[in-house]
Amino acid sequence: MNSPRKPSVEATRHGRVSLLLCENPPVNAIGHGIREGLFRNLVSETASEDVDAIVIACGGSAFFAGADISEFSGEEQPPTADGLIDLIEGSPKPVVAAMHSRALGGGLELALACHYRVAAPGTVFGFPEVTLGLIPGLGGTQRFARIAGFAEALRIIPTGETIDATRAEAIGLLDRVVDSELPFLDEAVAFAAGLGCPPHDLLVGRLARNCQEAVDKARLDRASFQEARERLARRYRKLSAPQAAVDAIGAALDLPFEDALANERRIFNERLASSESQALTHLFFAERAARKVSTLDSAPAEIGTVGIVGGGTMGRGILIAVIEAGFAAVLVERDEKAARACLEAVEGHLRRKHRTGSLSEADIADILGRTAIGADWSGLEPCDLVIEAVFEKLDLKREIFGQLAKVTRPDAVLATNTSGLSVARIAEAAARPENVIGLHFFSPANVMKLLEIVQAPLTSGRALATSRAFARRLGKVAVVAKDADGFIGNRIFDRYWREAELMVEDGVSPYDVDAALEDFGMAMGPFAVSDLAGLDLGHDIRIRQAAAVPAGTRVPTMEERLFQAGRLGQKNGAGWYDYPDGKRMPSPRVLDLLHGHKPGGGAYPSAPSSQDIVLTCMTALLGEAFRVLDEGVAARASDIDLVAVHGYGFPKFVGGPMHWFETVGLSQIRSWNRRALYPVSDEILQRFDAGRSAPGNISGSGA
Ligand code: COA
Repeated sequence: MNSPRKPSVEATRHGRVSLLLCENPPVNAIGHGIREGLFRNLVSETASEDVDAIVIACGGSAFFAGADISEFSGEEQPPTADGLIDLIEGSPKPVVAAMHSRALGGGLELALACHYRVAAPGTVFGFPEVTLGLIPGLGGTQRFARIAGFAEALRIIPTGETIDATRAEAIGLLDRVVDSELPFLDEAVAFAAGLGCPPHDLLVGRLARNCQEAVDKARLDRASFQEARERLARRYRKLSAPQAAVDAIGAALDLPFEDALANERRIFNERLASSESQALTHLFFAERAARKVSTLDSAPAEIGTVGIVGGGTMGRGILIAVIEAGFAAVLVERDEKAARACLEAVEGHLRRKHRTGSLSEADIADILGRTAIGADWSGLEPCDLVIEAVFEKLDLKREIFGQLAKVTRPDAVLATNTSGLSVARIAEAAARPENVIGLHFFSPANVMKLLEIVQAPLTSGRALATSRAFARRLGKVAVVAKDADGFIGNRIFDRYWREAELMVEDGVSPYDVDAALEDFGMAMGPFAVSDLAGLDLGHDIRIRQAAAVPAGTRVPTMEERLFQAGRLGQKNGAGWYDYPDGKRMPSPRVLDLLHGHKPGGGAYPSAPSSQDIVLTCMTALLGEAFRVLDEGVAARASDIDLVAVHGYGFPKFVGGPMHWFETVGLSQIRSWNRRALYPVSDEILQRFDAGRSAPGNISGSGA
């Protein structure tokens, strides 16, 4: 929650040093109040004859986290951030930035304009702007590159990666890492006092704008800019902010400093107006809104040890996520042989990370020291949270929850990892259904960011609060869903997949469908996803859902035919695609089968364009998304966007389906709707219309 406290800048004198302590909870964003307070105090303190040096620092948990994003939509009220930076650079007395915990974005840019920089150990530095589709706009691309070098600038500014204090000191970003028993601010003041009264020339020479050496060096290595572009293009498919950051940094090679600053500001403003930035900023706020879920005022339980039942693909992935997040873990398998296979797989994973340098031998020893894998269920006794991760079979899961009562503590939270089964039905089999919750991980569970937390009718606030805290420690984006078949994600994507398959049965090539959706930005097309998940999984889901499909609904049958023909997907090298040597290739056999299979009785109205394909699938998805909202399965539209982006490979730069539809507009949707096989109903379109007239209701976070 944002604190109701007002932003404040308080000046205190420590001998001949003036300390300007800024506070703007929760993250010390540089909004108007901070700018005004800093400007006013800088003017008076630099003019005072009793002051030799000025320290800028922040109270609270960290240094400035950047400019205040919530002010981006309006005109910047004076004093502007640029004006503040000019004032610091023009100060006749040394200005020292004293940073602790983290210095990000505009906060780091402000520090870069100071004459000296000191930091507490453990502080991290970076420019997260690209994660919002932006670039630094307060001279960061110019000043950072001049001080820390262009190679470092090309490494961290276009990626949003952070560096630690040791690295920051090594590359010249910091004058000192203050490491002592004394409070950090006392040390920072002592550093400033020790500067004496540096002559004007020395101060001017220390300004980043006057460091020419790095620019001269970079001019001799223009190829590194092209290399950076190629690297970024591979890593950030379709995102344009990283390339824009390279443009801004590169301007230093050909433009005088002031012109390069103006160029950076121009690019920043263009980015600010871009749909990519709007989409990414929407997702930023959506993630924060998703954390605001009522847990009936319950406190989360402390989690020290996590139990996992089942060591298959999901169980292993969950185990890795858990142990890498620092928890102790106990995994139980059905027998010793299966347990050994699981341990070997986990060790293999850790060894691979060792080879790439991301884990040391000591890290591996520490992780394995916290990990127990066996076949003895009594190992689950000390667990605070137990996650069942066996096959997606209701009876099996119910049996396991029946057994868990015998071996777990009465207060342990018991979670089922299911992608769509009824958590309530599973909880019925447990001794204490109020402790039971759904935790739907996405495969690979140690990589995918999304965690759907499924609240059954009897789930307690404590189980929900504990699951949310657990998700946060795993670094997951957690979205709470009500307990309904498919929850949020599989429910809406099921309609999208079904629509794609219907198009194929009406004569559109599955490979054209996948290509169109991948070109739109989906990580994988629907048929490639089916092959990855396994056509047998789709078969199980079809059986489970058959009874619930309303009479008269046209249900596609092609995938079932492929399954019956023994095509299981990637796992046996044949699904919608063939996989000779593991490479995904269109399958002549599938095209043959399709040729003779036209249950729709005719071809698609006309050969669809890529846009038609995308819109037909997306319109189906949207229709279901609104039903999910109406039924309260998702609490807010922006939760649906998070689920799509973090669990289903929906392109981030589009901001999720709800945000995208709002951007596209109603009349366009109506016109596409005419071609859709599952058109969005009039009722939903009217709601969409109403939502548009009240901004934020559709894709908004509801915060
Ligand atoms: N401007 C305005 N508000 C901000 C903000 C910013 N730069 N950064 C964070 N906030 C707000 C969040 O929206 C959240 O508000 P809420 O409590 O009403 O939901 C609150 O501050 C706490 O942020 P949160 O992200 O929940 O805290 P955290 O401790 O998990 O992470 C940060 C802190 C700073 C690492 C993270 O918020 C972040 O990356 N912020 C963006 C920084 C950035 O991009 N700066 C450059 C802007 S150009």
